[in-house]
Amino acid sequence: MLLERQGIGLAHDRLRSDEPLTEADIVVYLAHSRVTEQRASEQMDLLRRHFGDHPDLGRAVKMIAGDEDNHLAYCHEELLRLAAAGHGRTIQRTLRACALAEIRVHRDVSLAVMARMGRILGWSRTRSALLAAGIHAVYAYERLAGWHRMVTLSMPERRNALGGPQAPAPEFA
Ligand SMILES: [Fe+2]
Repeated sequence: MLLERQGIGLAHDRLRSDEPLTEADIVVYLAHSRVTEQRASEQMDLLRRHFGDHPDLGRAVKMIAGDEDNHLAYCHEELLRLAAAGHGRTIQRTLRACALAEIRVHRDVSLAVMARMGRILGWSRTRSALLAAGIHAVYAYERLAGWHRMVTLSMPERRNALGGPQAPAPEFA
């Protein structure tokens, strides 16, 4: 929602409308997803590493983490297909804009969640300040270098990760 308000990605109105999506719309949608699915996949991977063997949560965590990996793999594969069909520059430009907006939104949401948790759990000022400093430090790293990891494209090991019908290449292009 916050990203959409900044004009990032395809607006939900557009997704819901009856007008068929254009190829440019699909490029924007997939580029936005490439960035946000990366975040989802990384966060679920963290949970998988810590709770993967948990007797109650393990199975669900692994399943959701696997789903996120598949979403990300699908975005890579489809964007590479579209890049080969001549959309490379638009894809790079859109990915960059999405990544830079996403890291800002991620920082702001993290700060807001942390502040609320701090209030609920009665954290000391020092503790809250330290955690906020950590969030700002992560943002500084992502702004400097980390965002690059969100804009690369590489063919995933697992193809057709969402299991849909294989789009015949010439028609798709
Ligand atoms: Fe996802």
